[in-house]
Amino acid sequence: MFDIQDIFARATMDAIGSIAFGQEIGCLDSVDPPAFMVEFDRCQAITHKRMMDPLWKFKSFFRVGEEKHFTSSMKVVNDGIYKLLSNRKSGNCENRKTVLDLLEEKATKDGNSFPDSVLRDIVWDFLIAGRDTTACASSWLFYCLLQHPDVLAKVYEEMEGKDISKFTTVLHEFPYLTACCLETERLYPSVPSTFKGVKAHNFTLPNGIKVESGTSLEYSPYINGRNPQIWGDDCLEWKPERFLTENNEIRQFSQGQYPSFNGGPRLCLGKTMALLEMKRLIINLFSQFDFELVPNRPITYKVAIILWIKDGLWVRATPRSK
Ligand code: HEM
Repeated sequence: MFDIQDIFARATMDAIGSIAFGQEIGCLDSVDPPAFMVEFDRCQAITHKRMMDPLWKFKSFFRVGEEKHFTSSMKVVNDGIYKLLSNRKSGNCENRKTVLDLLEEKATKDGNSFPDSVLRDIVWDFLIAGRDTTACASSWLFYCLLQHPDVLAKVYEEMEGKDISKFTTVLHEFPYLTACCLETERLYPSVPSTFKGVKAHNFTLPNGIKVESGTSLEYSPYINGRNPQIWGDDCLEWKPERFLTENNEIRQFSQGQYPSFNGGPRLCLGKTMALLEMKRLIINLFSQFDFELVPNRPITYKVAIILWIKDGLWVRATPRSK
């Protein structure tokens, strides 16, 4: 019996470390999660509480409650990131171009260079953007599949006869599983709500509401995805078919209707990578094991920046019989 959400959080942390910075963080190497990961999670939890606590600056100043951990947690993570950066400088990382290399190349071309503190913040951004979102989405997807054996049977059908070890196969030849991922993000969006500060000038929304500069706007993919006026009366049901056309291709919705990956020029840069990771995790696990949910563990979400499953997703696994 184990918490698969925890495994996903470790796997996606290692994946983003490898892809973006050429180094695995080693989250799957030991039973206990590394301090880097524990303190990273704590920093995010405290930051989220700050958004809802008008007294946070007072608490931070006097180091009250969880705020007393913030500085030391930040130090553990920042030290870990600086170590990744120095490994990279000394050539002690995977021998291929990473996202960080590409960003630095672009900056150099434009006549700029990033000081270490900016590189550190870029690493923070990528860890936040690339790790939690995908682990959370994979957990809800896993849960939905276990709740819908008919859908899981179709996923198995889609796997049949395919070379699932090839990444191009996983990327291009799994429309049904891709639809499962997208439908999961509709009903359980990893980023359930997000804020935008209106800086430049006053403007009017398409529905006529006037927005003044200085306003903070919040929109919620979670509410969007559960609005019957947008998704129909069956909007609370998880139905991957929603995202498939009659030709078994992915049905496209406007970014306004489906803002789970944001939209416009700020559309999530990692959408394709996230879908690939989710499919890879599901295919690898379900091709080797049968899973069942541990009973009497209610499934609900945690109030946080990311829509984690509260208290994890506890499952039992047995080697696959067929
Ligand atoms: C299921 C997984 C994911 C979801 C649901 C998701 C969702 C989002 C959302 C909603 C935003 C906009 C945030 C905001 O501005 O308020 C965003 C931005 C971003 N995402 Fe993702 N994301 C996912 C995975 C990833 C992955 C794997 C990466 C890889 C590095 C990534 C990289 C980024 C980046 C760099 C941005 C900033 C884009 C910009 O502002 O121009 N995301 N994502």
